[in-house]
Amino acid sequence: MTEPNLQVPRELRRGGKLEDEAYAQSSALQLIDLICDCLEVPDLGNASVLDMGCGYRLAQTMLRNNVPIGHYSGLDVYHELIAYLQENVNDERFEFHPLNLHNEMYNPGGELLSADFQLPVPEASFDIICLFSVFTHLAPHDYSAMLKMLRRYVKPGGGLLFSLFVYETTAGGLGFIDKISTGLNISATDIENWSGPPAFKDWDPQQPLKWAIYSREHALELVEGTGWKVESLNDPRTYIQHHMLCTPE
Ligand SMILES: C[S@@+](CC[C@H](N)C(=O)[O-])C[C@H]1O[C@@H](n2cnc3c(N)ncnc32)[C@H](O)[C@@H]1O
Repeated sequence: MTEPNLQVPRELRRGGKLEDEAYAQSSALQLIDLICDCLEVPDLGNASVLDMGCGYRLAQTMLRNNVPIGHYSGLDVYHELIAYLQENVNDERFEFHPLNLHNEMYNPGGELLSADFQLPVPEASFDIICLFSVFTHLAPHDYSAMLKMLRRYVKPGGGLLFSLFVYETTAGGLGFIDKISTGLNISATDIENWSGPPAFKDWDPQQPLKWAIYSREHALELVEGTGWKVESLNDPRTYIQHHMLCTPE
């Protein structure tokens, strides 16, 4: 039986603030609302969601709060976490699959991601594909390969929502670069007066892909030719960094 108050052990919860249970839950509820807004539905009761790089946050929050969900597929390269979820969630609406994809930060020994990589879920079967705090750790070749690969899994009329770090300051001041510029006491105007941001910067090479930062221009141009059309690239909110909504081209 699924433990209704599913308590994922602390050692399996990774990803910055996500170790903070209260933040993880409240932010997950906001992400679920954001998905509903993208799909223009009041809840996810009839929706099929593919959560790529799922971690534990969305599934735990849905189960604990009895959030309506049609079908949820959670995929991740973190095998121990996926094994835990497979063992402890016994609800036919939820499925979890481990992947062995390469990620310099999370799974350096994995297989390189390519556009024709086959996921263990049916193609053209998801209303929404979401990746929260996953592109924030993706190198440029994985960024476009991931988009091309995921394109096969969305239903006609479905969508793709992912968060990312964009190399710019924003009006709300909630982005990665906002925090850096405040910390260094650099104004937004100073930053705008630079010759321009690099297309891509692995912010701290000592911690590969901990912060994968893209210029707005490059983040948008990497979507070209992947089969997706950009609907919007949105500023950070309290619970999410910049985020892009795409639909099938
Ligand atoms: C910061 S955590 C975010 C987890 C979850 N999406 C959330 O927002 O709570 C990033 C997750 O992405 C997973 N990940 C990284 N690269 C991946 C890839 N290429 N394919 C699938 N999962 C990946 C990691 O194992 C990790 O669980």
